[in-house]
Amino acid sequence: MLLHLMTWREVETCLKASTGIMMPIGSTEQHGPTGLIGTDAICAEAIATAAGEIAGAVVGPTIGVGMAQHHMAFTGSMTLRPSTLVSVISDYVDSLARHGFERFYFINGHGGNVSTVRTAFQEVYAQTSIDGGGDRPRVRCALRNWYQQPRVQALARNFYGDKEGYHATPSEIAVTQYVRPDAIKVAELPRPPPPAGGFSFTDAEDYRRRFPDGRMASDPSLATPEHGRELLELAAEDLAADYREFLRD
Ligand code: NI
Repeated sequence: MLLHLMTWREVETCLKASTGIMMPIGSTEQHGPTGLIGTDAICAEAIATAAGEIAGAVVGPTIGVGMAQHHMAFTGSMTLRPSTLVSVISDYVDSLARHGFERFYFINGHGGNVSTVRTAFQEVYAQTSIDGGGDRPRVRCALRNWYQQPRVQALARNFYGDKEGYHATPSEIAVTQYVRPDAIKVAELPRPPPPAGGFSFTDAEDYRRRFPDGRMASDPSLATPEHGRELLELAAEDLAADYREFLRD
């Protein structure tokens, strides 16, 4: 159930059965010459929506712009500063906690968000630790990267081997092709050689110098919408099961 499509009365009723909520978080950034700028947000939203249906969970609004400073040398990319994203996440959590939500399960589509999301969780906990929490519910947050679920990784390896790479991967592009077949882009893409200095980078100019077309050792031309369907369904199934565990903990 998407929070966006519910009424306040329906949310009230849902809260009597469960205080959990799934929170999709993505990014708005370049994904190589053929990948959509919205890839990470599209994947997180579609997978969370499907996982929410399986688990009977409320799914909150997608955080569509993430921490992507290193992609800013590519046109169309957007970023929140880490400090801004921490504020956005803690305000989302605090708003929903006010109504009684206690278990926040973030489904993430972008590796660059991970350390900032974890910092945001600490910010939320620190608030309660410092002021004692008052009448607020005791909140617990979890972060899961859809593309790192073990069975999803195995399926991606099976489809693409080491051509999966690390950014603008065929698996994430495949999911967008399945979700948005109207927006598929195709081009011949020679696979970029691994950069001499490895896969570390600092700011946007450094990233672009190391990864000139935006990809990190990936071959997104292998993606198909059918692969995307399989990856999405597997991710949704495993995340729904893991979410149920999270509610029990
Ligand atoms: Ni991505």
